[in-house]
Amino acid sequence: MIAVRAPATSANLGSGFDVFGVALDRPADVVRVEEADRTTIEVTGVGSHYIPEDPDKNTVGAVADALDAPAHIRIDKGVRPASGLGSSAASAAAAALALNELYDRGLSRQELVPVAGEGEAVVSGEAHVDNVAPALLGGFTIASEAGVTAVDASIPLVACLPEIAVSTRDARRVVPTETDIGDLVRTVGCAATLTAGMCRNDPRLVGEGMYDTVVTPARAELITGYEAVREAALAAGATGVTVSGAGPAVLAACYGADRRAVASAMVDAFADAGVDARAYQTAIGGGATVL
Ligand code: HSE
Repeated sequence: MIAVRAPATSANLGSGFDVFGVALDRPADVVRVEEADRTTIEVTGVGSHYIPEDPDKNTVGAVADALDAPAHIRIDKGVRPASGLGSSAASAAAAALALNELYDRGLSRQELVPVAGEGEAVVSGEAHVDNVAPALLGGFTIASEAGVTAVDASIPLVACLPEIAVSTRDARRVVPTETDIGDLVRTVGCAATLTAGMCRNDPRLVGEGMYDTVVTPARAELITGYEAVREAALAAGATGVTVSGAGPAVLAACYGADRRAVASAMVDAFADAGVDARAYQTAIGGGATVL
């Protein structure tokens, strides 16, 4: 039996839609695999009743198929589904690493990124890798036509998760299909600023680079209280705030000393909007680990 822990992740970071991702040091999924003649799946933990155990409908079933590695797979969810915190990616990344070990496939973590991406296609309809890349590689990742680049970075973060479910499919439907040159220039500037901030471990640059006028405003509409939560986090010391992945979680970059105040300001602002929420005081962390 092989057990792997894979972290929650936050994709996009505002200016890097479908490109940027970070591994969070908490929460995480744990996946255990044992050799079997055919793949079977058991799911426990947070939100497990929403997750199908049919291998054709579960993210890890696609990963087992892609690696030709049938197994009994037990998923213990720590990352709530439909949260915007890379729930399916955590399971897919953990399964890819675990099955690679179990069947001695010898693939590197970089090579496992597209394999785990197959699992994402089952959930969202597209094999994007901006969550599975950081779940496997850790740190800050850039997934582009040029491949996947991972950068070690250390930035304090707060991920605030409201009791609202937003499916990735629904959140992708509201993404604008066109943008104008002004927004394009602004987005490139922010993405470059954020990348420089990650390389320098500078929460101010990272926060400023999270600004996005293209995708985030459309998705914010799906999150009750988003604008008030954003303003409250900024007032409490956050350097930048954006929708985490497809939402509804909201991600704030901050200095370590401000993390507690930012977390409680975000939870309170959601409460004022009539939405229960919990906040993870977290940071950019490492990738999946074999336990
Ligand atoms: N980049 C993806 C999106 C991440 O925002 O739709 C969610 O899977």
